[in-house]
Amino acid sequence: MSIEHARQLITAAKRPASFSGAGLSAESGISTFRDARQGLWAKYDPALLASPQGFAANPEMVIEWYALRRRTIAAAEPNAAHRALATLDWPHITQNVDDLLHRAGACNVLQLHGSIMLDRCHGNCGYEETIDPADPPALRNCPKCPSPMRPGVVWFGESLPMDAWHAAEQACTSCDVLLVIGTSAVVYPAAGLISVAKSGSAKVIIVNTTASDASDLADVELIGPAGELVPKLLAS
Ligand code: OAD
Repeated sequence: MSIEHARQLITAAKRPASFSGAGLSAESGISTFRDARQGLWAKYDPALLASPQGFAANPEMVIEWYALRRRTIAAAEPNAAHRALATLDWPHITQNVDDLLHRAGACNVLQLHGSIMLDRCHGNCGYEETIDPADPPALRNCPKCPSPMRPGVVWFGESLPMDAWHAAEQACTSCDVLLVIGTSAVVYPAAGLISVAKSGSAKVIIVNTTASDASDLADVELIGPAGELVPKLLAS
């Protein structure tokens, strides 16, 4: 299970795709969710901060927590893994809500859990706008209706954005290599896309600092930091 074997699979691939999680942005200084000590969910309760119920109970606290995350992301830079992926016109399916793949220059980014760079109406009017993450908005009402504005991310219990989901499902059904980077692969339905690719007979290459829930699906599992391994894997 060597990097050379993985490189050969990628070179031979006709329809490759990538699927990433928080580990892709870890070396840019953005915390992952499930690291036992540094992970966001080790310090903060997702039920309070990333659910419609938490927002209803304490909207100021939720908006302040997202303001903190938005400032961290605004101050971060794409790392070598983002930059290496961005040179490829693959579908880049990601669970990440940051904009680091975009800022690295990637074109075809499918954000399954939405974007922290957007605010949208929490009601049904459909209004959304781009925010400045370096100067994030406080709690405010939608300019078009009486509902509050909220970050354009998917919270626990909410549906995924249908356009991104359908495009990602299509990409995973038809890809011949899926490069999986920095995800614990425990959050569904996103994690199920790895099985979709595998059932469609794609080769699955995993890059992660540890084993994950997707390890059993790997044709090649490379253990190490994405910022080091992904550029090596994708170098021409
Ligand atoms: P997790 O925090 O669950 O997993 C991050 C993964 O990245 C772990 O498997 C780490 O071992 C790995 N990792 C950490 N640093 C790395 C590095 N430098 N290089 C490579 N791998 C590294 O994050 P996700 O799998 O993205 O959802 O979590 C999925 C979803 O759960 C998130 O999108 C978020 C969260 O709750 C929502 O907010 C809806």
